[in-house]
Amino acid sequence: MKYSKILGVGSYLPPHVWTNEDLSKMMETSDEWIQQRTGIKQRHWVDLDSDTCSSDLALVAAERALASANVKKDEIDLIIFATLSPDHEFPGTACFFQEKIGIPGIPALDVRQQCTGFIYGLSIADQFIKTGMYRKVLLVGAEVHSKGLDRSTRGRDVAVLFGDGAGAAVIGVGEEPRDSRVSQIYSTHLHADGRFAKELWVPEPSNAHPGDRLTADRLIEGGHYPKMHGKTVFVHAVKRMPEVLLESLKANQVSIEEIDLFVFHQANLRINEMVASQLGIPAEKVFNTIERFGNTTAATIPIGLDEAVRAGKLKTGMLVATAAFGSGFTWASALLRW
Ligand code: ACO
Repeated sequence: MKYSKILGVGSYLPPHVWTNEDLSKMMETSDEWIQQRTGIKQRHWVDLDSDTCSSDLALVAAERALASANVKKDEIDLIIFATLSPDHEFPGTACFFQEKIGIPGIPALDVRQQCTGFIYGLSIADQFIKTGMYRKVLLVGAEVHSKGLDRSTRGRDVAVLFGDGAGAAVIGVGEEPRDSRVSQIYSTHLHADGRFAKELWVPEPSNAHPGDRLTADRLIEGGHYPKMHGKTVFVHAVKRMPEVLLESLKANQVSIEEIDLFVFHQANLRINEMVASQLGIPAEKVFNTIERFGNTTAATIPIGLDEAVRAGKLKTGMLVATAAFGSGFTWASALLRW
């Protein structure tokens, strides 16, 4: 059996920074409320007057990942694109992205698992490489949330949380057999529970109505904006993330103490602090970016990996654990040797 590994990562944040103070001019909120509850200080949003889509942010992140992996785009066998903010309802954003990066003909797959999209994508890439079907996979997580948020007081509970951004990874064939110092994806663990699908979702447009998928009335009511029961999401996140993280440790017979760095999904700093305290993880081993970038959903983990590499906190040979929880509900973890 073949093994897979991450060959390189890259990320991109659009240049416009919106502080909590800036948002408080748009809606009734405050820097104090946002920081106390979420830890977020600022987020990057695309120019709202531009035509920038998730696939545009992904392009820059992917080119950086290819450069860091020292892989030419023509070597890629499969594109996986994780996003909850697709460029269009259909076709999948992977197709728009494929056209922009210029590698026609290879398969292009969308993953719609929201905050766990990157880990789901990593798992898919890992399986394809392990079976020998593909040798190099380009996995992207990218989001333009800003244009899909209700940026008025009505939508403030959700709007303050999300930022735009993209991260990418090139996954390729690793060495075998498994050795304690060899870069490798050890395992991925995926879960979902659709009974909670409506705890964090976008109701419209939808076929769950008689007649048209979208009407002017439902648009005016704001049904196309995300809706969230924040407390329910929080309660499940702080349960499922430790659970799925421990699942990956158990599968590989590794202890918490052996992990060098934890790169968690970035939904709320309080969630990550609670997960770390439940598992006895020292704060300096958790790499957070939420203060600067907010929640970039499918992009948080590849952005985190790339930022950690560039900050000198993630080095070859380190054991890295990642876990995510989000809409669906979905949750997932991965354990890898960098
Ligand atoms: N600014 C000021 N006040 C606000 C804001 C805001 N931006 N948003 C809500 N409020 C108000 C509410 O109206 C409410 O007022 P009331 O008491 O007068 O009714 C009060 O603040 C408290 O609101 P709660 O929703 O109870 O606040 P809570 O303490 O639960 O914090 C939060 C909200 C931060 C969203 C939290 O519930 C949370 O982080 N949940 C998890 C979010 C998450 O993880 N999402 C998943 C990832 S996203 C994905 O998967 C796509």
